[in-house]
Amino acid sequence: MKDGLLYLRPNIQVEPLFDYWYAWSHLIPPATAARNLTERHFKIMDSYINAPQVHANAVKNPKLLGGPFMDYGGKRVDEIRELRAQTKRLRPHLIELSDAINALDEILRTQAKGFSLQPLYHLAPDALKGYVELVYDLNHNPSFRLIEPLLYQSRYYDRSAQSLMLSVLTGDDRPFVLSTPRLESDSVFHLRVPFDDEVVDELFRLKSNPRPWGEIKEMLKPPESSEPLARSFFTPDPPPPYSPYRGSGLRWRYLGHACILLETPDVSILFDPVLSYTYESEVSRYTYQDLPDSIDYVVITHNHQDHVLFETILQIRHKVKNFIVPTSAGGFLQDPSLKLILKNIGCRNVIELDQMESLEFENGSITALPFLGEHSDLNIRCKAAHLARVGNRSLLFAADSCNLEPRLYEHLFRAVGNVDAIFLGMECDGAPLTWLYGPLLTRKIERAMDESRRLAGSNFAQAIDLVRQFNSKETYVYAMGQEPWLGHIMSLKYTEESRPITESNRLIQECSKHGIYAERLFGEKEILIENLCVKEAVSH
Ligand SMILES: [Fe+2]
Ligand SMILES: [Fe+2]
Repeated sequence: MKDGLLYLRPNIQVEPLFDYWYAWSHLIPPATAARNLTERHFKIMDSYINAPQVHANAVKNPKLLGGPFMDYGGKRVDEIRELRAQTKRLRPHLIELSDAINALDEILRTQAKGFSLQPLYHLAPDALKGYVELVYDLNHNPSFRLIEPLLYQSRYYDRSAQSLMLSVLTGDDRPFVLSTPRLESDSVFHLRVPFDDEVVDELFRLKSNPRPWGEIKEMLKPPESSEPLARSFFTPDPPPPYSPYRGSGLRWRYLGHACILLETPDVSILFDPVLSYTYESEVSRYTYQDLPDSIDYVVITHNHQDHVLFETILQIRHKVKNFIVPTSAGGFLQDPSLKLILKNIGCRNVIELDQMESLEFENGSITALPFLGEHSDLNIRCKAAHLARVGNRSLLFAADSCNLEPRLYEHLFRAVGNVDAIFLGMECDGAPLTWLYGPLLTRKIERAMDESRRLAGSNFAQAIDLVRQFNSKETYVYAMGQEPWLGHIMSLKYTEESRPITESNRLIQECSKHGIYAERLFGEKEILIENLCVKEAVSH
């Protein structure tokens, strides 16, 4: 240990915030942020201010887990009232933008009847003029496409809404992020910098590269009253050294949910990064300390908050060489560009991989395969399953792909051949459409319609079909949201009777019966594959 040098403690949680609400990927693009502000945040705050006890009771009811209920035990109403007033004061442009989206939808609904859309441009709300293109599909259903890159350069993208909140974390329990804003307290240090600020990288480098307190203080600039608290977040104790993969083949490690680190002598790839902090717990896990100093590729399967977690992405950004993301449909409100989102939060080298496109690296490749379903039948293209090939091995990370149409996999099999190991999510019940996308709708959806359009992954029959199609020798059920450190983003607690558990149990049994290794991943796992045959088996 060098004298006077300090590291960021491994259990300091750093929550990225958007006007005090936990920042997730729809809070970055101006249009989706505007809709979430008016249709989620204000509505939950209004409701809490009116009936705090209803929220306190609802949070205790397991049946309402993940619902729009604030987790402050009916207290802190004045602070929520103040947050609401402050947000109204600071974000008039976003409120205007949200109202404009409402108004434009109404204009298209009532006036776009299959005839030229040209006259409607001058009727569009002023806030959106020059930022939208009006379009029909081939059945004359009207819609609009946002010119997203320009919106990021407009007054609607205001980085001053972004900040980081630091506090000590000693256990897995954290309030659900979509319904509970974070508030100031004596135990949090609020770092008011936008996500793309260099300070964010400097802060997280302190997890492994120590610096003297004087420099850290200069960087974080804590007010005098917060200085002892900020200082307590640092320690002279170095983290345990990272143990790199030294074999000649392949090592993959499961870090929880859909987060998998794949390492070979040539390359490191991290899929869907979602990390726990490091603290005492009954469930053993890999954490930030188990990541290499440099990660060649971070690969993201789709734009759901349990797969694009800014809290983790911001921590690792400084060590990531490239981010690989699926291509978006281009301007549809429900399908914002993930490339633009990551670039605007300060990620460099963000590469879009379109369906069936590959990225080659030394002795291997990553190919983006089509991903059906799990998005409530909305026109969302930003999703991909990824086939990773290393030497003669192939691993398919299918994330929440729902096998809605087995013929897809017949076609894919002809294109890519056998797959050695398949990783598949089986959250086969799924939340209804409005749980995630509700704020984007400008008209109320019928309850039955909402319930029928769920964010559901594959069930047993769909999963076994997929496994059989690729002649997989190993099957891993993952992305089930069951690790205790995911509660704040997933709000899912299964019992042995829950369908995702019973369906995945059936898959495991059926695979085992046919000599296929199968397991539902939980916590941590490491697999080493040596003796990879190189080159000739790579191409199919
Ligand atoms: Fe998902
Ligand atoms: Fe998921």
